[in-house]
Order: sequence, then C-alpha cells, then structure tokens
Amino acid sequence: MQDLDAVLKQHAAQSDIDADVARAVNGLARAAAAISKLIRTPDKAANLGAIKGSANADGDDQKALDVLADDEITAQLHTAGVAIYLSEEQDTPIPLHADGTLIVASDPLDGSSNIDTNVSIGTIFSIMPAAGGSLQCGRNQLAAGFFVYGPQTTLLLTLGDGVLAFQMDDDGFFCDMGWQVAMPADTQEFGINTSNQRHWHAPVKAYIDACLDGRDGELKRNYNMRWVGSLVADAWRIFRRGGVFLYPADCRDGYSQGRLRLVYEANPVAMLVEQAGGKATNGTDSILDIQPQDLHERVAFIFGSMNEVDVIIGYHS
Ligand code: AHG
Ligand code: MN
Ligand code: MN
Ligand code: MN
Repeated sequence: MQDLDAVLKQHAAQSDIDADVARAVNGLARAAAAISKLIRTPDKAANLGAIKGSANADGDDQKALDVLADDEITAQLHTAGVAIYLSEEQDTPIPLHADGTLIVASDPLDGSSNIDTNVSIGTIFSIMPAAGGSLQCGRNQLAAGFFVYGPQTTLLLTLGDGVLAFQMDDDGFFCDMGWQVAMPADTQEFGINTSNQRHWHAPVKAYIDACLDGRDGELKRNYNMRWVGSLVADAWRIFRRGGVFLYPADCRDGYSQGRLRLVYEANPVAMLVEQAGGKATNGTDSILDIQPQDLHERVAFIFGSMNEVDVIIGYHS
C-alpha cells in the first residue's frame, strides 16, 4: 500500500490519459487540503455556514463554504489542464481548457446543512473522458472519490482497480491508511431520513417496516439505524463496517427522483461502491447504467452491502 503521491506517480506512468487523471486527482487533493484548513481555522469573519443569498441550480441555499470550496476546486482543475468542470454550485458546465482530455464533476461541499454543527462534511468528485461529453453514464468514469473533513481528513479513491483509503497529515499529504477497502456483503444497519416516512412509496415503507419489526419480523433480524445527513460521512461508515444508505424517491414535490444528484453525488459514490464489492441502485437499475439527461438531475439512491441491497431490490420487484 502506498501514499497518494506514489500511487498517482505510478498511475501517471501507464498512459497519457492516466497521467492527466493523476494530475486532476493531485489538484483535487490540494484543494481538499485547503478546504480542510479553512474549516479548521478560527475565523468569525468567514462565517462559513452563512447563506450567500442565492440558491444554486438545484434550489439549495448556497453557503459561504459551498462557494469557497467551488472556487478552490475550479482553480486547481484549471491548473491541472482539465477541459470542463461540472459543479453542484454552477448552473452550467464551466469550460477550462479547450485541449483538455478530462471532464471533472464535483459536489464541492457535501453536507452543507452540517457546516455550522461541527459534523463531518466533504467533497465528492467524478473524472470522465472529455470525449464522452458532459452527460455520460457513470460506467464511463475513469476515476472517482470523496474527501471527508471530519475528526480525520480522509480520501476514498478509485482509479478503476479497487478502492484506496488515505488520511491527510498536518502537512497536507495523503498517507496510506493500510486499509484493504472491501464492502462487507451483509449488514444489520440502515441509513435513511426517517422524518420522510409518510412520503415514502410502498417498497421502501415495506423494507423499513421489516427492519423495525426486528427478529420477529419477516427479515428475522434486529437492525440498527444511523443517519448523519452528510452523504460522505454515511458512505465512509458503510465502507468501513457495511450498511445500506437509502435516499429514495418520495411523494413530495421535487422529490419524485429523490434528493441526491446523479452526476456529482450518486455516480462517483456508486463507482467506489462497485469497486469495493458493494451495490448501488435506484431501486431497480444500477446507478452506473443510468444515462443522465440534465447536469443537476436527481436520482433515487440506494447503496451499500451487496446482499442487503439485493433484499431492498426484492421489495421493488
Ligand atoms: P449537499 O450539502 O451537497 O447539498 O448534499 C446534501 C445531501 C447529502 O449530503 C445528504 O445525504 C442529504 O443531502 C441529506 O438530506 P436530508 O437533509 O434531507 O436528510
Ligand atoms: Mn447543496
Ligand atoms: Mn452533496
Ligand atoms: Mn454540496
């Protein structure tokens, strides 16, 4: 197992496009180190959780840190020679270099509702070939990952050949965690925002009811529940000890396709999940096979331990 710099050097030596991917990941790691420092630096004036006044294309209130993280990533991807940047915080694709070979999609700051609650938040990224255009299936991704700004600043990364885990040191270097990342196939722990229960469609209602019925229910097992409200924090836990995450479609206006965004949240996490031996679906289809129609389109997102996701798919059939 190696530190990030060594991994990227080795990857870059494979081909020209892999060298471009390595440069982009290195730029994202520099941006994450800067965002992590920003979060940790006492600065009343920065007021990172303050709403900036404008909503983003998906209707989310933009917080100060959303914008600062977006600016940091834009600058690093420009330096890395990336062709186009797709961002939760930008209505349309941002052209950077006409001769670039890569498109990078990012959720610059995931978990914004947790910024001023001192709960883990993060940055998610997806790296695709520029030739595929801004709306391409997640199956085309060349690399994907997410940073978590928590008690530790960490990175889960896939370059297409398994999942690697790193922890940032005080100097901003990402050190190997010595963790052979593999998603446990079974779990008795689910994550869902239960306050939406009255809005859920029948399959999700039936599954969660069966979980809550415990050993006497049809699943014959007791379940635990965890919900952080930052996708990256819930995902990191699930990679660590197994579990399932559900943000389903529901009956609320605007939630007919759930809450999470396909291009810069579900696709990168789904690539990591499959690379670690887990499963990621919208309830019926694999996330990575869905053809995006719009940069900010939402998708019902269920992922985690393979055998438990299969149980949930069973409720949808
Ligand atoms: P973002 O802060 O990037 O807009 O993403 C927030 C997402 C995701 O991180 C989390 O899983 C989900 O919102 C939580 O939604 P609820 O607040 O509805 O539970
Ligand atoms: Mn948001
Ligand atoms: Mn997010
Ligand atoms: Mn975000």
